Amino acid sequence: MLTRLGKNDACWCGSQKEYRKCHADFDEKVDHYKRQGHLVPSRQMIRNPLQIAAIRESGKVNAAVLDAVTEYVKEGITTEEIDRLIYQKTIELGGIPAQLGYKRFPKSVCTSLNNQVCHGIPSPKTVLCDGDIINVDVSTIYKDYFSDSSRMFCVGNVTKEARRLVRVGQECVILGLRQVRPWGFLGDLGQVIQEHAVKHGYSVVKKIGGHGIGLRFHEPPWIGYEGKANTGMLLAPGMIFTIEPIINAGKASIYLAKNGWTYYTEDDSLSVQWEVMVLVTEDGYEVLAY
Ligand code: MF3
Ligand code: CO
Repeated sequence: MLTRLGKNDACWCGSQKEYRKCHADFDEKVDHYKRQGHLVPSRQMIRNPLQIAAIRESGKVNAAVLDAVTEYVKEGITTEEIDRLIYQKTIELGGIPAQLGYKRFPKSVCTSLNNQVCHGIPSPKTVLCDGDIINVDVSTIYKDYFSDSSRMFCVGNVTKEARRLVRVGQECVILGLRQVRPWGFLGDLGQVIQEHAVKHGYSVVKKIGGHGIGLRFHEPPWIGYEGKANTGMLLAPGMIFTIEPIINAGKASIYLAKNGWTYYTEDDSLSVQWEVMVLVTEDGYEVLAY
């Protein structure tokens, strides 16, 4: 049972405002959904305005790092060189790459090519070639706050089929994003993402999903894409999480490589991922990193 706060007590969110003027109505609303049997966010998943402002700044750095590297993601560059650029730009902007040393991950960025699903490790041996598609997944710690987003890049002349997969993967994220609203549900985005991928003959990886983020790199809730509308966790203002569906051209099955990090498609088909970091606002959503 959660502690009942007096109307004049300081709010549990840490805003230092009176509970009555802060999250009292919010709590009533959440309780209402809970009584109807819905899964509801815990107080730990709700950020206060100061935290949101700080996480927003982290997200801006993250997006700026991705912007800065864009012109270099071309034929002939190695993923090791991309890693150096990401590291340098992040430091230059006052941040720290969140991935570097995270659970002993050895690099500052994940670079996943073609049939690599995610968590590709940059290497001096991996040279970008004409026709490759690559995901660059960046995450940043800025003034102790975390952000995370990723984009796909096409190297040179990419086949029509691969370009279509890249486009549909991006559409999946955008369609999911548009479902984000207070008092909606995580299943709302899961359903549209799943449907859009399947409509194009693709599949969505089930084992890997998005996550809460902000005070730490990976926080609850976990964001999967198998949901049905009006099911799954309730969305409430102040929640921050990533939407990062992985779409495979073939089957959804994946396997983990010997390096312990990188996943590949089981059937060798191409795989794409776009990742956006989003805040649930009072009237919809705000993109914090893309
Ligand atoms: N941005 C990736 C994710 O959220 C980072 C994975 S952790 C790493 O899944 F160590 F592999 F970088
Ligand atoms: Co992520």
